[in-house]
Amino acid sequence: MKALILSGGKATRLRPITYTSAKQLLPVANKPILFYGIEAIRAAGITDIGIIVGDTAPEVMAAVGDGSRWDAKVTYIPQSAPLGLAHAVATAQGFLGDESFIMYLGDNLIEGGVSSFVEEFTRERPDAEILLKQVPNPSSFGVAELNADGTILRLEEKPADPKSNLALVGVYLFTSEIHASIARIQPSPRGELEITDAIQDLIGRKKRVLSHQLSGWWLDTGKKDDILEANRTVLDAVERNVLGTLDAESQAIGRVRIGKGTQLINTCVRGPVVIGSGCTLVNAYIGPYSSIANNVTIENVEMEYSIVLDNTNLRDLDGRMADSLIARNVDVRRTEHRPRVHRFMLGDDSKIELI
Ligand code: TTP
Repeated sequence: MKALILSGGKATRLRPITYTSAKQLLPVANKPILFYGIEAIRAAGITDIGIIVGDTAPEVMAAVGDGSRWDAKVTYIPQSAPLGLAHAVATAQGFLGDESFIMYLGDNLIEGGVSSFVEEFTRERPDAEILLKQVPNPSSFGVAELNADGTILRLEEKPADPKSNLALVGVYLFTSEIHASIARIQPSPRGELEITDAIQDLIGRKKRVLSHQLSGWWLDTGKKDDILEANRTVLDAVERNVLGTLDAESQAIGRVRIGKGTQLINTCVRGPVVIGSGCTLVNAYIGPYSSIANNVTIENVEMEYSIVLDNTNLRDLDGRMADSLIARNVDVRRTEHRPRVHRFMLGDDSKIELI
């Protein structure tokens, strides 16, 4: 069995961060989202992993390497343009050959990994298996309508009028039968070759498609608030490990992870929080559900429920910062320069909320 991870796409909903970075490499609890998927696949015993890459290929390749870190073999498969999930599978046909495979969307996180799902597929030998989860907003996802006996009646991509609240989770298991279905479908009105249409074609051809309802959490990190929610969920399981140094006026309360070479001066950290290495925190409060990467300086700032990436400086902020996702090399500071005005240099699609 092989694995196909999709790490291309446009990631328009995470601009401006995704103008310069791959969405799948955004860190959750200081680890790239994509690595959680690779670990889940590897834990299911799969070592032959293909990764679909797009414009951000160099960055993804530099971060993942040849897979030896996970004792796996990684093959990169460039996709000409993000023309849909089924287009990505068609692009990978040379890599996949006739083998069965797990397809994993590189921006998804699933509690408990995929091992039980892979075992079920191997045992039951259906033509395909999909994973479903009840969600409050099914219109944002592929939605499954089931028959009374639990088999799948119909799948619809982002329906305006959803027939159920069962969303398709971004993990699928396929035999090579899917390639024939992909060859039979046409692009959808949004111009993409939809994997839901290909699975619907399998059902139409009387192939056996199983579904499995996920009991644990599932996070699809398409937007800023999804990433913050993923960060919160993963931080809930973080274990305390303080390697940095705290002066006599500093405290690290509860489940806090602090990397080597990080210094806390008159700073209170209230977990769950992770802080990387080489950071300097002075007169700061770092509240629950914050992840701070490496070489970050935070001075005279209170923050919570936020993610801050490498080499960023935050200084002298009035009021508490929350619900924020701040990328690399960002500089935010209060100034005494006259005239006393707000001064911005923001990339396209930046979002600032001031009080
Ligand atoms: P999506 O989140 O559906 O699409 P996107 O990443 O382009 O984001 P947005 O809607 O904000 O513009 O994609 C799910 C995953 O699949 C994501 O990891 C990107 C990847 N993908 C591909 O690799 N190739 C594709 O053709 C598409 C559509 C997605």
